[in-house]
Amino acid sequence: MSLVITKLNVQTENKDILKDLSLIVKPNEVHALMGPNGAGKTTLSYAIFGHPNYKITQGSIYFLDQNILDLETHERARLGLFLAFQNPSTIAGLDIVSFLRASYKAYHGIDITPLAFRRLLNSKLDLLEMDHSFLDRSVNENLSGGEKKRLEILQLAVLEPKFAILDECDSGLDIDALKIVASGIKKLMQAKLGILIITHYIKLLQFIEPDVVHVMLNGTIVKTGGKDLISELELNGYKNFKNPEL
Ligand SMILES: Nc1ncnc2c1ncn2[C@@H]1O[C@H](COP(=O)(O)OP(=O)(O)OP(=O)(O)O)[C@@H](O)[C@H]1O
Ligand SMILES: [Mg+2]
Repeated sequence: MSLVITKLNVQTENKDILKDLSLIVKPNEVHALMGPNGAGKTTLSYAIFGHPNYKITQGSIYFLDQNILDLETHERARLGLFLAFQNPSTIAGLDIVSFLRASYKAYHGIDITPLAFRRLLNSKLDLLEMDHSFLDRSVNENLSGGEKKRLEILQLAVLEPKFAILDECDSGLDIDALKIVASGIKKLMQAKLGILIITHYIKLLQFIEPDVVHVMLNGTIVKTGGKDLISELELNGYKNFKNPEL
């Protein structure tokens, strides 16, 4: 169930963004990816999901021993990949249950009865210690930043992917919401899935305690280490990390 990225080069708008980026996430490992604005973190997530604006010029991405570069985005999702977008779009008016049921159907390619789906939802709400009244809200409209993020975690729990990329799942969260999202992620981790967390916040990583931490600068990973890297980043920021090309 590993995700294996080898010497990946990605262009957008004829500009080289990712340069010889290599990364291996083994089954059920939680990796954190940190790096300054514009380093290419979101570009990496889009490339993994086959976004048409991001052109792979060299390198490979394997998931479950399969070369996924030949697959359409929905086929990658069927393999068990999931991406929580940095900027989820607003779907005004759609209630949360319908949204999640539609996303379950699209993701797994199967429909389940409303009753069975409701049971699944209730079990996930209980797992995440979320109030069932949350389901009465409409998607993204009038949801606070923290509630949107909680919806993302609930969606993740419902879809049960094998590997999830969470791109800034903590942006705009207050400290209580951050703890709720972090504890949700930790509970999902017990259900065994691989996770790549992209974040600017040390705090989230202190709660989650990832297995591996990567630092990305100018389109490539310049340092990989354990949790100790988090405290180093907290102390000194990115100034001690150098892109080998510079
Ligand atoms: N569609 C696009 N068109 C043009 N340039 C793009 C596009 N997408 C990304 N870029 C450029 O690629 C570089 C990397 O952007 P990316 O969004 O991947 O960075 P990031 O590490 O996710 O940053 P942040 O921490 O701010 O989210 C930036 O210079 C950005 O301007
Ligand atoms: Mg980004």
